[in-house]
Amino acid sequence: MLPWTDRKDQLSPLKLSTLVIAFVPFLWLATQWQNDWLGSKPTTNAIHQAGDWAIRFLLLSLLVSPLRRIGNWPKLIMVRRMLGLTALFYLLLHFMLYIVDQKWNLNKVASEIWLRIYLTIGFVALLGTIALGATSFDSVIKKMGGAWWSKLHMLVYPIAILGLLHFAMQTKLDATQALTMSGLFLLLMFYRMMHRFGLPTNLWTLGALAIISAIAAAGAESAWYASSRGLNPWAILPSNLVFDLDLGTRPSWWTLAAGLILVLIYGLRKFQQNITLQVK
Ligand code: HEM
Repeated sequence: MLPWTDRKDQLSPLKLSTLVIAFVPFLWLATQWQNDWLGSKPTTNAIHQAGDWAIRFLLLSLLVSPLRRIGNWPKLIMVRRMLGLTALFYLLLHFMLYIVDQKWNLNKVASEIWLRIYLTIGFVALLGTIALGATSFDSVIKKMGGAWWSKLHMLVYPIAILGLLHFAMQTKLDATQALTMSGLFLLLMFYRMMHRFGLPTNLWTLGALAIISAIAAAGAESAWYASSRGLNPWAILPSNLVFDLDLGTRPSWWTLAAGLILVLIYGLRKFQQNITLQVK
């Protein structure tokens, strides 16, 4: 089976387009590198871009199951593994670029990972992702048995938390990007809990999920700045919740927007189902 074909060995437009999307950031990065468009610190810039894409694809792989259920798109499962492996690809690139940045001095790389806590956290997450990638092939899944495989792959959640923590810890001043990603992760986690506890998926529960996740994202932002800058979390909470153009769009608003997109997808799907029933 090729990466762009389905189990019947036929071309899958979904898999092919995912594969193309997966490689576009890499091609763009390679073009920037080749043309010296990466600024005065090209390797650092490339490390950042590869890290950003790694976390984005990791979260996209976690979005597959919720989106399958909410949008009733069972075929999406075909691209979950590809998205996970793409995240691993960008992580390995991120790590390789870090080694290049350290001029291939592996002793220095090892001591930095040992001494800098944000690198230690990133490295543990990288090892976990490698383990998941290595066990994601059909032959290995068969050997391990579905139940063990599922248990092992639950590790993706702690790995994502470590990746997000590493992302937030390496930011010098403004952790907005990392906290926005964390808000989106909270949304996915709360949906997972909702499903686990048997709550139905409908407009009301999805609407509540969007609001609760947005409030949790604001709480996480306050907690982050409170712990990293010694501020009073209650004093900064309102600015993380209220929409203020001067402050830029806060992570809570991005999280709310993502939650409302899920509501919209669900609404459109129901609307389409009703139309189909009426036509029949
Ligand atoms: C799951 C594992 C990891 C994830 C998800 C991840 C992701 C990220 C992200 C998103 C950034 C910030 C990019 C930006 O600011 O635009 C970053 C920065 C960085 N990461 Fe990672 N990373 C991981 C593992 C590692 C490992 C293993 C290393 C090296 C040992 C590493 C080294 C760095 C460095 C040096 C920076 C830049 C820090 C700075 O500019 O001061 N990361 N990473």
